[in-house]
Formats: sequence, structure tokens, C-alpha cells
Amino acid sequence: MPRPQPQTLADIDTPAAIIDLDLVRRNIQTMQRALEGTAVHVRPHAKTHKTPQIALMQIEAGAPGVTCAKVGEAEAMVAGGVRDVLIANQVVGAPKLARLCALARQARVTVAVDDERNVRALSAAAAAQGVTLGVMIEVEVGMQRCGVLPGAPAAALAQAVHRAPALDLVGLMGYEGHTVGIVDRAEREAKTRAALAAVIQTKAACEAAGLDIREVSGGGTNTFDITSTIDGWTELQCGTYVTMDAWFRQHVGHVFESAFWVLAAVVSRPTRERAVVDAGAKSISREPGGLAVVDDPPGIQLRSLSEEHGTLSLAENAPDLQPGDKVKITPWHGCTTFNLHDVVYALQDDEVVDVWPIAARGRFT
Ligand SMILES: Cc1ncc(COP(=O)(O)O)c(C=O)c1O
Repeated sequence: MPRPQPQTLADIDTPAAIIDLDLVRRNIQTMQRALEGTAVHVRPHAKTHKTPQIALMQIEAGAPGVTCAKVGEAEAMVAGGVRDVLIANQVVGAPKLARLCALARQARVTVAVDDERNVRALSAAAAAQGVTLGVMIEVEVGMQRCGVLPGAPAAALAQAVHRAPALDLVGLMGYEGHTVGIVDRAEREAKTRAALAAVIQTKAACEAAGLDIREVSGGGTNTFDITSTIDGWTELQCGTYVTMDAWFRQHVGHVFESAFWVLAAVVSRPTRERAVVDAGAKSISREPGGLAVVDDPPGIQLRSLSEEHGTLSLAENAPDLQPGDKVKITPWHGCTTFNLHDVVYALQDDEVVDVWPIAARGRFT
């Protein structure tokens, strides 16, 4: 039976994913304004919110499309109205290549590659389906995840893409995932610039070989103001900036504002110092390095998450929580927490203005 739609924050059943729409809009505008007058645009990473309605807000503000991590995520975005997707990841295997090509009939699709065998497979699949796929060469910049080595190996792969019948060489990608977590700003900047210089050098090598490199893409929330000032860079892939999370707040204290919480209800108050809420690791992702933070009411700390319980410590000045009272918890990692929920409640002040399916949640194929 369909549940009645809540009208206000107080009506929302828990645990629930909630966003503050005004703050989301402000974060989008902050990013857009920061890039105004530069040669760089943001292609927001949809892995954070996994919600087409938020992607469309980002596009309306000026983004050309979104970045995705998986074909399934891109399918959900396109089904929700997005017309331009970059899968900043390698796509392999016949079933996924078929889906990728089918998607290219409905939207502009670009995919990352770092291997010539994958280039041949992509080209054959696209040619068989009569579509063209955009391709970015993913260059290894020190993160030691995916990516072809910069310079000659990357330029040779770009040549292979250029020669491939059903592929369009769009440009280069380098993601500095190993520098985004450096807390010291000067060190983060120096290491980011050093890492991404490899992509710019590769661009020069490609251009010297006569290849047209239209886009140079990468960058995260924690390096957006560094990566976007690199000469030759054109595109940022930042995701978390739109809603933020406790990790970013603790590590950087950013120009972006927290706009995403899990709303939980107190289910038990066994002692004066301890309360238990109905949100555990199945509704707030639990990851090494830190714990989610209780933002409201004040004076309360999350101590631990078991599967369906969150245990809170109450300071002396904390409110006298009763069963049924609500708390707002900022997840340590926003992206993996969105992925746990079916819907997100979009609030304006305390009013629920929309309830959006998190359409790409669980879409990891
Ligand atoms: C390929 C890629 N690009 C960009 C990002 C940046 O995301 P965020 O802005 O959330 O740090 C990530 C993060 O995982 C990524 O994997």
C-alpha cells in the first residue's frame, strides 16, 4: 500500500535520507561561480547522490552532463532525463558493452579506457550497433588505480582510439584520488599539481602527434580549486560538493555546506548518558577512519553503529531525548550512504517539497 507523503520533517518516517534543497542549490551555485570566466566546467559525479533530479539541477545550473562510475548509474541518469554522460571508468565484457552502445542511442556517451584490447572491443561493439562512443584516455597520475602510463604509452593508446572506426577521441582523464585526502592545503596543492602535470604533458605529446584533445577531465571536491587552475584543464568531476559529508567537513572545512542527513528516531533511552536510534550501518554507511556526526540536537555523539542501531552518547547539557525524538546525522561518507536508501526527501526549511527515488542506488553493474 502506498504510504502517505509526509508534509514536514516531523512527519517523515525513519530512518530517512534527507537533503536541504536551499543548501544543495547554494553548493551548486558556489561551484558554478568559482568556475565562472575560466576555461573549466564541472561535470558533476552522480555517484554521490545517484538521483537524476539532483543531476538535472546541476545541469540547469550549467553542467554539460554528469560523470558516472558504472553503466547502471549512467542508465539511471539517462532514464531520468540526462543527455550527456561520462563513465569515468573502464567498461568491459560483452553484456556491458551492449548496454553501453544501447545507451549511446539515447544520449551522448563517453567512456574511459586504459588498454588497447578494451579499445578494440569497444570499437567492435559500437560498430556492430551502428553508434559512436566518446572515449577518454585514463592516465595514471599516482593514485595507482586504473590508468595507462602518461606520455608515450598514453599517446599511443590515444592514436589507437583515433584510428578505431566507431570511437571518437574526446580527450584525457586523470583522477588525483591519492591527493584529495591530504589535509595540509600547501602539500595538497603541490602534490596535485605535480600529479596532474603528467596529464598536461600527455596532452602535449598527443597534440604533437596530430591528435585533437578537446577535454582534460578529473578533479574532486577537495582539489576543485587547485585542479581547475591548471593550465590546459577543462573539466572537473567533483561529486561530494553538492551535499558534502562529515569526512569532507572534518578534513577541509569547505566553502561547500552540509546538505545531507540521515534522519533517525530514538528507539531506546536505557541510561541518562545513552540513547539508541533506529539508524545503523544499513542506513548510514560504516567506513574506516571516522563515524557519522550528530548535527542536531547538540551535545550528542554517535558512539557506534550496529546493523540497525546507532548508539549515542549524551553530554550533560544534551536534551533529554525520549523515544520517538528525531536526530539529524551527517554521514561520514555521503556517497555510500545515499546508496543505501530508496528515496531522498527534499526539504525546504522543514517542509517536504519532493520525494525522489535514488534511481541509481545499487546500480553497480
Ligand atoms: C573518477 C573519479 N572522479 C572524481 C571523483 C571525485 O569525487 P568527490 O568530489 O566526491 O571527491 C571520484 C571520487 O571517487 C572519482 O572516482
